[in-house]
Amino acid sequence: MIKVTDLYKAFKGNEVLKGISLSVKKGETAVIIGPSGSGKTTFLRCLNLLEVPDAGTIQIGDLSMSFSGNHRHRTRDVTNFRKRTGMVFQGYHLFPHKTAVENVMEGPIVVQKQNKKEARERALALLEKVGLAEHAEKYPYQLSGGQEQRVGIARAMAMNPDVLLFDEPTSALDPELVGEVLNVMKDLAEEGMTMVVVTHEMAFAREVANQVIFMDGGKIIEKGTPEDIFDRSENERTNQFLNRIKVRV
Ligand SMILES: Nc1ncnc2c1ncn2[C@@H]1O[C@H](COP(=O)(O)OP(=O)(O)OP(=O)(O)O)[C@@H](O)[C@H]1O
Ligand SMILES: [Mg+2]
Repeated sequence: MIKVTDLYKAFKGNEVLKGISLSVKKGETAVIIGPSGSGKTTFLRCLNLLEVPDAGTIQIGDLSMSFSGNHRHRTRDVTNFRKRTGMVFQGYHLFPHKTAVENVMEGPIVVQKQNKKEARERALALLEKVGLAEHAEKYPYQLSGGQEQRVGIARAMAMNPDVLLFDEPTSALDPELVGEVLNVMKDLAEEGMTMVVVTHEMAFAREVANQVIFMDGGKIIEKGTPEDIFDRSENERTNQFLNRIKVRV
């Protein structure tokens, strides 16, 4: 489903991604771990073309884009490509003046020109799926952080992406709210959604990931099954990182 080949990205001469290559099969969940500043967010933003890579190729489904410093892609190609992925951020970025259901309907109506009734029905179904059927008419300020984040997931899914990207979706939440968001993600994984998740929730990674990717300094240091990375890694940097965050799950 996703194939990334030799991806590079620099900000004003500061190389942040230094040749990232990976593949994620349809229905797989890949979890990316790594220290702060290693380029995890930048990588996700490149997959969504919120950042334009300097070099490399990204293939999602049957769409492929190659990047080189001076070539500009057509807006239509970028838009089509972007539609393939849905992004869930650390903060929820909900519209404060819209209810939960209106937040979820917004993309399909504005971007996909769906009619309001259809969009609303589907939004309600998605809210039910993330356990928020009774909260559809509430405004973000009336929701807990965990509920807001689940609206964020429903909103990303409303656009029917092939791939969901999560950037530390639970790190802004109070500990007791983390589980409800991870459970929704677990359900999605079980239903066969293809997902790339940046997270420090190692227990989630162990249970749900088909593939764990350890990034450091803009490179993939190691990737493998959760067992390969958490139990059997002989890589010094991987082990240093895992010991530092003190989770051996
Ligand atoms: N828009 C930008 N302009 C300039 N530098 C940037 C930009 N975005 C990221 N960087 C730099 O790129 C490097 C990697 O940042 P990134 O946010 O991808 O790391 P990260 O692995 O997600 O870290 P964290 O775990 O703290 O979220 C950092 O040194 C950061 O300062
Ligand atoms: Mg980040």
